[in-house]
Amino acid sequence: MSIVSAKEMLLKATEEKYAVGAFNVTNIIQMEAVVEAAVNKKSPLIIQTSVTPSKFIGKDVFSAVYRVLAESAPIPICLHLDHCTDVQYCKDCADAGYTNIMIDASKQVFEENVRQTKEVCNYVHKLGDITVEGELGTVSGVEDQIKVAEDEAALCDPDKAVEFVEATGVDLLAPAIGTAHGIYKTKNPKLDFERLEKISKLFNGHGAKVPIVIHGGTGLQPDVVKRLVSLGGAKFNVSTNLKHVWIDSVYDYISAHREEYNPGKVDKAAREATIKLIESWIDLLGSAGKA
Ligand code: 13P
Repeated sequence: MSIVSAKEMLLKATEEKYAVGAFNVTNIIQMEAVVEAAVNKKSPLIIQTSVTPSKFIGKDVFSAVYRVLAESAPIPICLHLDHCTDVQYCKDCADAGYTNIMIDASKQVFEENVRQTKEVCNYVHKLGDITVEGELGTVSGVEDQIKVAEDEAALCDPDKAVEFVEATGVDLLAPAIGTAHGIYKTKNPKLDFERLEKISKLFNGHGAKVPIVIHGGTGLQPDVVKRLVSLGGAKFNVSTNLKHVWIDSVYDYISAHREEYNPGKVDKAAREATIKLIESWIDLLGSAGKA
């Protein structure tokens, strides 16, 4: 039960109106910490790696550790490749054992986005229980190797979204609704809640069919997170928050123990801070006890 794709756990989340946290990790200890937090909270979990860490640590290493951790965990866990713009690398990660793949061709013209997303769907669906996330419209900010300026960002057209899903066979849809990667410049970024509601109703109005993904979780106010979830956000992506907590806790530990040369203790401090962070996200998203 533990090694699963994203779709089934997100259909359940959509039906029951909570969201599964999708947490970007850059190393193995972070991966373990995220799993431990989800097990503590009895929550389903999506572990994500962006392309750069996946190449740095190695897709096979991430996948092997995922398998070991997920096989012994009493919760469903998915390993997701985040924002990949390279069709071949999407296929390679599916071959390596990732169970959900995001092909991000959102910067391309619509027809090319459809072509690339469809190619990835056709390939990975033949491999077994592996699902695909596609993006329509563009999310501003910086995520790994992808940079989108605010004035370049375009929101998702609901009618086009229907055409996109039908033409590609994509399993999960990430519609751009105004959220952004990285740190928000204002406390209350302008989000298009009505657009999200319309898109959610189009796909999941009469029973859940295509779960909706919300990008740019870091920095959103708790009431905004809850509203996005209540309007249909079923996969909730959080990345920058994990990076900050990791770096800050390593910095704090080393600053307070300047004479100590014990990497295990530094790792432990960062691991514990990450577990606390993920547990609080799980509580906010409402997925505790849903495994
Ligand atoms: P943040 O870095 O803003 O949390 O966004 C995460 C994300 O959407 C990853 O795909």
